[in-house]
Parts: sequence; C-alpha cells; structure tokens
Amino acid sequence: MPAALARFERGRREEVEKIQHAADVSLVWFEHVARYLDFEPVQFAFGAMTRAKAITYDNLRLRAPAFVEKMDRAFAEGVRKEGFDVSLDKPAAPMFQPLRLREMVVPNRVAMSPMCMYSAEGGVPNDFHLVHYGARAIGGPGLMFTEMTCVSRDARITPGCAGLWNDEQEAAWRRIVDFVHANAATKFCLQLGHAGRKGATKLMWEGIDRPLESGGWEVMSASPLPYFPNSTVPREMNRADMDAVVTDFVLATERAERAGFDMLELHCAHGYLLASFLSPLTNHRTDAYGGSVENRLRFPLEVFAAMRAAWPAHKPMSVRVSATDWAEGGLTPEDSVAIASAFREAGVDLVDVSTGQTATVSRPLYGRMFQTPFAERIRNEAGTATMCVGNITTPDQINTILAAGRADIVALGRPHLSDPGFTLRAAAWYGADDIHCPPQYAPGKDQIFRNSVRDRADLEDLKVRGRPKTRAELRSPAEQAAT
Ligand SMILES: Cc1cc2nc3c(=O)[nH]c(=O)nc-3n(C[C@H](O)[C@H](O)[C@H](O)COP(=O)(O)O)c2cc1C
Repeated sequence: MPAALARFERGRREEVEKIQHAADVSLVWFEHVARYLDFEPVQFAFGAMTRAKAITYDNLRLRAPAFVEKMDRAFAEGVRKEGFDVSLDKPAAPMFQPLRLREMVVPNRVAMSPMCMYSAEGGVPNDFHLVHYGARAIGGPGLMFTEMTCVSRDARITPGCAGLWNDEQEAAWRRIVDFVHANAATKFCLQLGHAGRKGATKLMWEGIDRPLESGGWEVMSASPLPYFPNSTVPREMNRADMDAVVTDFVLATERAERAGFDMLELHCAHGYLLASFLSPLTNHRTDAYGGSVENRLRFPLEVFAAMRAAWPAHKPMSVRVSATDWAEGGLTPEDSVAIASAFREAGVDLVDVSTGQTATVSRPLYGRMFQTPFAERIRNEAGTATMCVGNITTPDQINTILAAGRADIVALGRPHLSDPGFTLRAAAWYGADDIHCPPQYAPGKDQIFRNSVRDRADLEDLKVRGRPKTRAELRSPAEQAAT
C-alpha cells in the first residue's frame, strides 16, 4: 500500500499542483473583480475566461471563433475611439493594433525590453550595438528600448555599460537611431539610469552585481547599505549629490533629443539609484526623502520633473518601477499604486512594470507571465497605461494579456535575444500583413506569410478531423485534376 500511494503521488502531484495554482490565480481575479466592472462586456467576459491562464486567445479561437472575433472587434473599436482608422470588418489581433502615446504612434503592441549588453567602451555604443538594435528593429516590434544608459561615468553598473554624457556617445547613439528610423517602423525609447549602490560591479558574464576587484569607483545610494554583505558600502546621498544627479539626467535628456530618440524612460527599478529611494528596504533615511511613500518618492519625482521639462512636450516618457520587492517589509501593493499615480500626475505616459532585484532578501515567485498581475493592478487601479514584462514568450500570451485589459503593451526581453524576428513571425501567424519590412527582406516576409496560411489550415484540420491534410489534399482542384 505505501508503495502504491507513493507511486500515485508521483504520478498525480504535478497535475494537482497545476490545478491548485490555477485555482489560486482564479481566486485573485474574483477577489479584485471590482477592477474590471468598467470594462466593456466582451472584454470582461474574455478576462473572466482567461483569468487562470489555461484558456488563452489562441485556444479560445479554436473553440469559440465567433466569440474571439467579437472580442477582436471590440478591441479594434476601442482603438478607433483613439482616432485610428483600423478595420472593424477584419480586425487585427490585439498585438497588431496601434497605440498612441502623446504624438508618438507605436505601430504594434510588442516591445523589446531594455537589456544591458555590457559591450560599450567608455560608455560609447559600437558596431555590436548597431547590429543588435538594427536587427531587432527590423524584426518588427512596435517599440524598442535601449539598455540602461548611464547619465555619468560613475552612474554605470559595469565598465561595459553604455552612457550618454559626452559628444562621442551622443554621435554613436545618433548613428544607431538613424539606422533604426531609416530601416524600420519601430519607435525607439532610450532608458536612462543611474546604478547607485549596484554600480562598479562586474560584467554579467563575469559575476552579475559582484563588486569589481579593481578599477571601481565610489558608489552612492539613498542609505549606506551594501547590496551583498561584501559589496562596496555606498555613501548616503546629500543634497549636493542630488543636485548633481538631477543635472546629469537633464543633460542626458537634452542629448537624447539631439540623438533623435522618440521616447525616454526613467529607470526607477531593480535596486538602482532611484529605486533605492522608493523601497523601504533600501531607504532608511530620516529626512524628507525617507519614511512615508510620499517622502520616498520625492527625489525620483524631482528627477522625473526636471527631465520632463527638458524633453519635448510632444514626446512621451515612461518610468520603470519594481512593483514589489518580493520581501517582507518591502514595497506594498498600495505603495506601487501610489508610486504609479504620482508619476502619472507628474506626466508619465506609460508605467513599465517590473519587479524585484532591489535587495538580496527577495524571494520572487517565478512562472509564466509572473509580473503581469502587477501591471494589471497598476493599470486598473492607478489608471495609467502600463507595459508588462517577464517570462512572456508567445504571441498567444501577448494577445491574451492585451485582450483581457491587463496591460497596454507587452515587452519581451530574452525572447528577442534568441529571435530578432519574433514580431514578424507573429504577424505572419495572425496575417497582419501591414507589418513593416524593408524591401531587402520582402522575399522572406512573403514566404513566411504563405507558409503560415498553410500552418493555420493544418491546425484547423487537426481540430476538425483529427489529422492534417495530406499532400494530395493540399493540391488545388486544378492540380488534382491534372494528376
Ligand atoms: C541580459 C539582460 C540585461 C538586462 N538589462 C536591463 C536593463 O538594462 N534595464 C532594465 O530595466 N532591465 C534589464 N533587464 C531586464 C529585462 O528588461 C526584462 O525585464 C527581464 O529580462 C524579464 O523579461 P523576459 O522574461 O522577457 O526576459 C535585462 C535582462 C537581461 C536578460
């Protein structure tokens, strides 16, 4: 009997855990149902059905195509209300609907998330960056973020981080921005940041967040607390330090405009300088910049306001936040909504919702789309547009998130490292043929779009008759008659 029970448990545990996890996620939806009461009925229903992640945009389309079409149309109607002349007869999938942020139009709702490449020298981006950003922009995301670009030499995380504090860096970024604008429809957003206490550390592949053994520089933070016990102890920032940092962000903002970027993001996440003010785990100050969430917000908001004033009014800005520390005593869900609301009032157009990496006591709960609930909460409680990110790997997940009103745009990081053409391939699958493609690559686009029609038909056949069509059945009637 014990052996039989053990075997039974081995066989069933994973399935039962999956059901329990789905039930938990579902419970959270019901607990917060008030958030969705203003939704259009179709979107509300779609959100209810997809709440536990098992039912998705694509698999629901196989079971209930008419309902998903209705949902697509309702989504397109919302986009039309924003002033876009999009089709209602044959509405594009949500991820291929445009989005407007101030006067910037993002052609689709896929973004490439900011990712440090640790490959700059003296902060100057080089040919690696040109190829990296160039190839990914051609791959079709509506919006692409640069890696965290540092506002001064001592604001860098590592010696390989890109910067924007001198003319050489500005010219190098201008070359990359010009290439992107000449060859892609992608909008290009510069992420500006200051490493704070996580500065003067090693390249990712040599020991992420670990202090440099030589050649480091002095680091500062909201409070004099090291990241790891053996990390450099940062200096607690004084008012003169704050003034200098504000000036650095403003000068970099002016350079970003001259370099031609379409959008600017202020990095307030992942434990870097501005994040160190926001989290109670890293901000132990007793002055006007510590204590309540309003006080912890004071310096990040000051930096944001100075940048907003220097950045053209018609261009949008976003802010990246860590919505939770994943740790006891850290940011609360209420804090994250208060932080997003304060930035919205200060003129933020999009809140880019990440989590964690703020303190080593973090214990994140990873999983598919694990940070999306935080973006959803901020979007529907703070009333800001949000971008979600984190272990989102398929077009199906992107459409499910957007259609359910969990975020306004979806960012992918690592999937873009392995597949620069992620968005183009998704466009082929959903038949979104107005996706931009430079003429040099048009034959590749034609082929993938043709093949996708056949792949979709195979999927339909699989559903209807339990098997794909044979080669003979795939031939046109004329071809069949000729053989
Ligand atoms: C190599 C690498 C570098 C990253 N650098 C940055 C960065 O510079 N700024 C930032 O905000 N996030 C950075 N991130 C986090 C990503 O933007 C993203 O939030 C994270 O990878 C989760 O998304 P994913 O599961 O789609 O990869 C980096 C991630 C990776 C993998």
